[in-house]
Amino acid sequence: MDKPEQQVPVADGTVPETPRTRLVAIMLGPPGAGKGTQARRVEAEFGVPHISTGDILRDHVARDTELGRQAREYMDRGELVPDQLIIDLIADRIGQPDAAEGFLLDGFPRTLQQAVSFEELLSQKKLLLDVVVSIEVEDEQLIERISGRYLCRECGRDTNVAGMDSLPETCPQCGGELYQREDDRAETVENRLQVYRGQTAPLVDYYKGKGLLREVDGSGSVEEVTGRLVEVLEGG
Ligand code: AP5
Repeated sequence: MDKPEQQVPVADGTVPETPRTRLVAIMLGPPGAGKGTQARRVEAEFGVPHISTGDILRDHVARDTELGRQAREYMDRGELVPDQLIIDLIADRIGQPDAAEGFLLDGFPRTLQQAVSFEELLSQKKLLLDVVVSIEVEDEQLIERISGRYLCRECGRDTNVAGMDSLPETCPQCGGELYQREDDRAETVENRLQVYRGQTAPLVDYYKGKGLLREVDGSGSVEEVTGRLVEVLEGG
């Protein structure tokens, strides 16, 4: 699929001389907006990997790595993991071969410091940021989606019980055990929303100022949102 026409110079104002990438995009949005759900649906279509800092951190926590041990206390409280840990993690991930032609970032950047460091990383790699998508959803829906989210310990898929009469006993996809994310508990969700408003939402104006921001209505069905997102990513 063709990438959007629009490309802008990287932070230092230079235009990279390397071949054009397929797509370098950021998905912004509050917890529960549907960033992960949508990124998983469109990554194959655009031929770039979906990179979720939340997923990478949860994998480190599950494997009890040094990074996982450092990140866990922040994640469980719904707070942001320190910038430098995240910047190192992203530098490593976008340096891997499958990310050479672009990537779809979900959950990064989340602070101004992360955004500025990311521009430096892109500049070093001679890559351009094409678009920043902000998925917009009302708080009431965010809370409903997050409180209804259950994950499977076997296949990792998400089953959302919002609108169901009762919680299925096992994963409808594979029969595995269902569980809730530690940070999806009601008291932590409110903190995550506040952290988003205070530390991440300012990035909307930051990228608007750079002419890169596209807002997408994240309400309605998953399929409806995908349709709007694809249009934006295609430069429509
Ligand atoms: P992260 O995993 O990034 O969590 P988040 O941003 O809070 O995002 P969520 O995964 O809750 O939501 P989502 O927008 O992906 O929605 P989803 O598609 O799952 O981060 C977790 C933690 O890690 C952070 O709190 C922080 O501690 C740390 N961290 C991560 N990145 C960091 C960074 N850069 N810097 C510092 N710390 C960082 O959808 C939610 C539910 O809704 C699902 O069940 C889904 O099925 C359902 N759903 C989706 N779309 C629809 C729809 N249209 N209609 C109905 N249901 C829907």
